[in-house]
Amino acid sequence: MGLLQLGPFLLLAVWAYTAIAMESHEHHLHISTLMMKVEGQLEAIQTLQDNIKKTLEEIRAAQSGARTTSQQAACLGNTYSLDTKSSFVMKDEIVTMNNGHSIRMDDILYGYDWVFESKRLFSAGSWLGVQNQQDPADVAAIQQLVWDIKPKVIYDIGTNVGGSAILFAHIMSQYAKPGEATIVSVDPKHYSINWDDAAKQLCPKCTSVDSNPLWNNYVQFVQARSVEPQAIAALEAAIAKYGGPVLISVDGWHEYPEVYEECVTFAKYVTVGSYMIVQDTKLDRIFNKPGPRQAVYDCLVNNTNFVIDKSREVFLYTQHSDGFLRREH
Ligand SMILES: C[S@@+](CC[C@H](N)C(=O)[O-])C[C@H]1O[C@@H](n2cnc3c(N)ncnc32)[C@H](O)[C@@H]1O
Repeated sequence: MGLLQLGPFLLLAVWAYTAIAMESHEHHLHISTLMMKVEGQLEAIQTLQDNIKKTLEEIRAAQSGARTTSQQAACLGNTYSLDTKSSFVMKDEIVTMNNGHSIRMDDILYGYDWVFESKRLFSAGSWLGVQNQQDPADVAAIQQLVWDIKPKVIYDIGTNVGGSAILFAHIMSQYAKPGEATIVSVDPKHYSINWDDAAKQLCPKCTSVDSNPLWNNYVQFVQARSVEPQAIAALEAAIAKYGGPVLISVDGWHEYPEVYEECVTFAKYVTVGSYMIVQDTKLDRIFNKPGPRQAVYDCLVNNTNFVIDKSREVFLYTQHSDGFLRREH
């Protein structure tokens, strides 16, 4: 057979070979792609399994009360390092709820600090119709403390419109008749003016403190800064007249120098077993700078007869964490 006669057969053979080779290559490519897909899916399944295992471990640990560093730092999905600035009682506990969410106690409590500030809730409350700038949990905790101590003299630094004074007077009226105990309330501005312009909208029904007889029966208002001579003279006169226990509430200008000065100046007036309540220690964290809380720590360096009484942080949430200072001797 000549080459010319073989030509068509050769062409056919070349075509057949090329077609088979291409198909086999495509087939091979297809298999490789499939294998890569399967491998990827296997990896995803492995990651999912690891995550589920980790989550289950965390749930079990949280339920059993055990805590690990990674668990403290991870609230199921959110990882962040612990905030060492927190001074809340039980700050590291993980709370697991029945909606499947878990959250660290510090984030609940500090989160509420932010809600309170950003929503201006400090101007939303009142006591006996007088606008009161205390958080409700602190109102209850302070009421318990005042009732336990039953002070004859309360030095109320920072009157504003009389909210804390009327609260103190109300409790006082349940253990002392008028003339048996007193509150010296001091503020450089008059109590008829609220420092917060928005307070009227947040507490539209609030009334003036001097329309309440408790104000006249129990409160002496001194328009001065807490450390000014006329204010200190009023405190000393009250102690001379009514004796102790004496309690000091520091809720004036919440900057480090003022609070430190007040803490150092008024520590000696607190009677043994009674308290100085340094308020708004939360502000150190909110403003991220030394404030009332740092002032407490520094004040106590030379006032070693005081202890920070964590047992007064009864509701865990308080704006005065590390601010309940009890005089021991
Ligand atoms: C947070 S408000 C007090 C709130 C009030 N204790 C209450 O519970 O409703 C702070 C007040 O402290 C007052 N203040 C500022 N500096 C002060 C000082 N050196 N001595 C006393 N009060 C001061 C402000 O004028 C303001 O009215």
